[in-house]
Amino acid sequence: MIQENSSFPPVGNGLTDLFSRSISYLRLSLTDRCNLKCMYCVTEDESAGCLSKLQHNELLTYEELLRVVRVAVAMGITKVRLTGGEPLVRRNVMDFIRELTRIEGLGDVRITTNGVLLAQHAQELLDAGVTKVNISLDSLLPKRVAEITGADCFDAVWRGIETVLDLGFSPVKLNMVAMRHINDDEILDFARMSQRLPLQVRFIEFMPIGASSRWNADTYISSDEIMARIATLGELIPLEKGRNDGPAKVFRLGADAAGSLGFISPLSHHFCNRCNRLRLTSAGALRSCLLHDEEVDLRSVLRNQPTYESIREAMLTAIRNKPRGHQLEERMQRTGSDCHGRMSRIGG
Ligand code: 5AD
Repeated sequence: MIQENSSFPPVGNGLTDLFSRSISYLRLSLTDRCNLKCMYCVTEDESAGCLSKLQHNELLTYEELLRVVRVAVAMGITKVRLTGGEPLVRRNVMDFIRELTRIEGLGDVRITTNGVLLAQHAQELLDAGVTKVNISLDSLLPKRVAEITGADCFDAVWRGIETVLDLGFSPVKLNMVAMRHINDDEILDFARMSQRLPLQVRFIEFMPIGASSRWNADTYISSDEIMARIATLGELIPLEKGRNDGPAKVFRLGADAAGSLGFISPLSHHFCNRCNRLRLTSAGALRSCLLHDEEVDLRSVLRNQPTYESIREAMLTAIRNKPRGHQLEERMQRTGSDCHGRMSRIGG
């Protein structure tokens, strides 16, 4: 259905943007802080210790976040993902999550974590109703994980993965950012793991975001190349997409596999035409595209006698500004620059 600007948004019909995409998914970055310093997320200066962090009063408070989510749910958002930085490092995060999952009409709260603190929080997450988790893991070799993340954390992350599998979380997704000469020799090992364990291994194309100075055309590996390598192991059987499955193309590697494989191709196969997301950065800016730096300052609205209407208006402005596509390649060719936002503030 074509929307007319004058009647934007449609009443009682959920949220729809100017390109008829339905916006139902809000991603909240709870903090820009992280207990890891992954090589694609921080610059070399930063990994040497000079990471600039938001001041406490620059972060949205939990009360402010809950207020935003209540308005968002009333407007038609049905799914929320908590990201960071690392969401589990924020103080009292479980109290916040318990409040969040009590919001009526919000049936779907998920979390993306690096897994370091997951084992100790898994039972509480389950009790709060959060059973869908994405865990970032770029290598299965403890030494390499330490090189990529700057911390000797493989055992802790693996314990986290085992714990959520034991507790019956579903789905459990492992995010692997594939990088040539860095971890691409492990692509087949990750693929085999999806045959053994009931989880989804997701290969994500490396994106040139903000401080990711390691990105270059050589390090980048397309999903097509990754799939071609994996196809040497067995048949990739396409799985039907669930309604909430997001941008991944999902397969099973052989009919007997316990888990599945997902391929996320933000560069080689844009999924902008299906994008249903809105993001709230840890500094309280609404961002309608991961790869576009345009933002709406919701924090000022929240700190200036906010009303349901003023919060709603900020959300609608962000949705109205949602670009048709990320056009990252075109912008890089034109200006030589990538997206300037920082993944740790935007939330992955
Ligand atoms: N390109 C692709 N994926 C990235 N992530 C972080 N930075 C990048 C990047 N430059 C991934 C993380 C995490 C997810 C939220 O985003 O590994 O799993």
